[in-house]
Amino acid sequence: MNINNSTANILKNVMSHNNYLEIEGGEILKGNIKINGAKNSALVLMAASILSRGQINLFNVPRISDVLVMSEILTAMGINIKSSSNQLKINTYEISLPSQDVFFDLFNALRVSFFCIGPLLARFGKAKIPLPGGCLIGSRPIDEHINSLKQLGVIFEFKNNYLSAEVNTPNKRLLGATINFKCKSVGATETLIMAASLAKGTTILNNAAQEPEIIDLANMLNLMGAQIKGAGSECITIKGVESLKGCNYTVIPDRIEAGTFLIAAAITRSEISLSQCEPNHLQTVIKKLELCGCKFEYSKQFLRIIPNKILKSVDINTSPYPGFPTDLQAPFMALMATADGTSKIKETVFENRMHHVKELNSMGANITVKDNVATVVGVKYLRGRVVLGTDLRATAALALAGLYANGKTIVRGLEYLERGYEAFSKKLGELGAKILKK
Ligand code: UD1
Repeated sequence: MNINNSTANILKNVMSHNNYLEIEGGEILKGNIKINGAKNSALVLMAASILSRGQINLFNVPRISDVLVMSEILTAMGINIKSSSNQLKINTYEISLPSQDVFFDLFNALRVSFFCIGPLLARFGKAKIPLPGGCLIGSRPIDEHINSLKQLGVIFEFKNNYLSAEVNTPNKRLLGATINFKCKSVGATETLIMAASLAKGTTILNNAAQEPEIIDLANMLNLMGAQIKGAGSECITIKGVESLKGCNYTVIPDRIEAGTFLIAAAITRSEISLSQCEPNHLQTVIKKLELCGCKFEYSKQFLRIIPNKILKSVDINTSPYPGFPTDLQAPFMALMATADGTSKIKETVFENRMHHVKELNSMGANITVKDNVATVVGVKYLRGRVVLGTDLRATAALALAGLYANGKTIVRGLEYLERGYEAFSKKLGELGAKILKK
């Protein structure tokens, strides 16, 4: 990897397989947590910067390892990035096509880097990037990205794990089209929004995903001079423009980080508050927690959770926004493992996202899984164990279970956790949790 020394050291540190969390369960939490900017927005907004010739100043960017890897990818394209605190200054006047060898490791380290394909095609008329592999949570196909880009005039060739794409129109400019997505995909919707922003003519996206991160992308692109309407609905219209300029933009709060900490409060039966969050993006999660027996107080960008001492079991089905987010399925399952009664948790978005069940059961949970439906019989006690997280949200879920458990829990898999949570253990420690990163 062509990574400069300082970034390499940070990456080595945060992605070390030897780090772990040590948690002494049973503490009551108290206080306030400031929520960071959304990982899933920040990464895509960084990719979108490739579309501009100018300076993008991104504020509220979380300091997580995925952002570091995306910064390296952009840097290797000649883009100048300066970072300080939670701000990125991305200068895209100078930019070149990535050389494939330098990029293989970087692109492989970060699945979302595939989302650079739309901006690269829009700006250079071609792109060659490694195929994103499957991952532990499922096969994660890219057919929707590919098939819809084809309709904008792109031809593809797959060779030696690389995907070569070229715009096959007379002037190498993408051509607007009407796309009917077969499934609701956040990534495919974002790829097409970015590609179509600089296309000739108008693109209509039907059956588009409706996540807040998609609205965030459209808002930033519109500030850059794009003409995008309907983001947040199932039909998005993008009128292509000739060029896009720089802008200043603040990333929306991370609803998944906020949801994780709400569940941390619920599982420890503790009252805490969240600031710099967006309660409107958490409505489905809040409704489920209310059914469990949690009360909420709201004001602008602020949320307080007041859980009952005994929480009831509640069923969930994960589904695209505004449904219950798949990214909170594992944390919610940890909570249900400690609730009163039996709940059914159905994962409908990814086919293989229940690796945490085995680890939760090793802590004393009573969970069985059949056909992607987990039956969770709540238990009174979990016990501390050494457990291994195998994806970002599963690792967070095991840490939450550790906060409830009797005794000491060691959570391995920090290299996943730190892909998506800034200062996870520090934030919980400041609320009174006995949690140390070692
Ligand atoms: C994004 C989020 C991830 C979240 C997921 C679902 C980012 C960086 N990541 O991932 O945290 O868990 O949304 O909310 O924003 N699919 C296809 N063909 C495709 C693309 C997707 O069949 O071409 C399927 C997937 O296999 C999956 C479903 O569509 O079953 C949703 O995936 P998608 O919304 O694309 O997830 P990502 O954008 O990868």
